[in-house]
Amino acid sequence: MNANRENTIFFCKTRNEETHWLFLIYKHLKPNRLLSNEKDYSSYNQKYKNMIFYFTGNGNSKWVAAKMANETNDRIFNISDFIKGNQPLPDIKSDDKVGIIFPTHSWYVPLPVVDFVKTIEVPRDAYTYAICTCGDNMGKGMKLFAKQVKLDAAWSVRMPNTYIPMFNLDSDEVMRDKVNDAGTRIHQIANAINLHKKEWDVLEGMLPRIKTYIVYPLFAKYSIKASKFHLEGECTGCNTCGNICPTGNIEMQKGRPTWADKCVSCMGCVNACPQHIIQYGKSTRKRGRYSLAKVLKELSIK
Ligand SMILES: Cc1cc2nc3c(=O)[nH]c(=O)nc-3n(C[C@H](O)[C@H](O)[C@H](O)COP(=O)(O)O)c2cc1C
Ligand code: SF4
Ligand code: SF4
Repeated sequence: MNANRENTIFFCKTRNEETHWLFLIYKHLKPNRLLSNEKDYSSYNQKYKNMIFYFTGNGNSKWVAAKMANETNDRIFNISDFIKGNQPLPDIKSDDKVGIIFPTHSWYVPLPVVDFVKTIEVPRDAYTYAICTCGDNMGKGMKLFAKQVKLDAAWSVRMPNTYIPMFNLDSDEVMRDKVNDAGTRIHQIANAINLHKKEWDVLEGMLPRIKTYIVYPLFAKYSIKASKFHLEGECTGCNTCGNICPTGNIEMQKGRPTWADKCVSCMGCVNACPQHIIQYGKSTRKRGRYSLAKVLKELSIK
């Protein structure tokens, strides 16, 4: 009862009467979807106006989000915290600016990001943009994503490749070039965002339709298998793999990781294991492991 009253006061202040009543009806019908913790929810929305939501497996997209937020003066939030239920969903208002930053997964968007944007309500007047990080290009993935959420602008930023079951890591030189170029590109994109520009500059690459509309569905159906994860070597039980997993898919049992069925194949756990003992099928045996921290250290970039 008290919590309801707190919310009523909050929404009377911030929404017009009609929206307020509609919201109360909606909230009554769907009590748990928007408000998992009503008290935190109101203070959270009063504190943070312009928001960047990011999803990451290996840190590339988080790094881009953090650098962007530094230039646009926004706050960043990890979509994983919403997925895992650690963060109440945001209330976005018409004059807000909302960014969504994520890795490209097989020329589309990681499904937890698609699910996340379906659960938030974005007013038509809010300025919204998306940035995909990618090893090379996005195909038609961003165009397809724009059918799920209103996007005023979109960009791609090339970052080192992380998908080691199929491809080798980029050479050290290519990694350094990509990260250096990304710094310049983020600065340019930030200027456009600060001016609320309606730009669309996403690298689609060759045969973009085939990649997004034919290869992606096959990848989603056949390439993500928990049974392919296994250990080859001595596990220290450090749980680095569990901590990095953006979907909460890894549980430690008897000091060793086990994989459930919420994997999005981001390769975060495989790349981050300090012992390099996590394999995904056989092909990762002969591949290196990606570390953004290492590249940044070599370039003396934060
Ligand atoms: C499962 C998977 C699929 C990928 N598919 C693509 C792709 O279609 N196109 C591309 O350019 N990069 C692709 N990549 C590379 C990542 O998009 C890129 O390395 C990204 O910056 C990783 O971001 P993160 O560190 O935030 O996870 C893929 C990586 C993974 C793990
Ligand atoms: S279990 Fe899957 S989703 Fe989790 S870190 Fe490993 S590859 Fe990524
Ligand atoms: S990160 Fe590697 S060493 Fe640490 S618990 Fe996971 S598998 Fe074991």
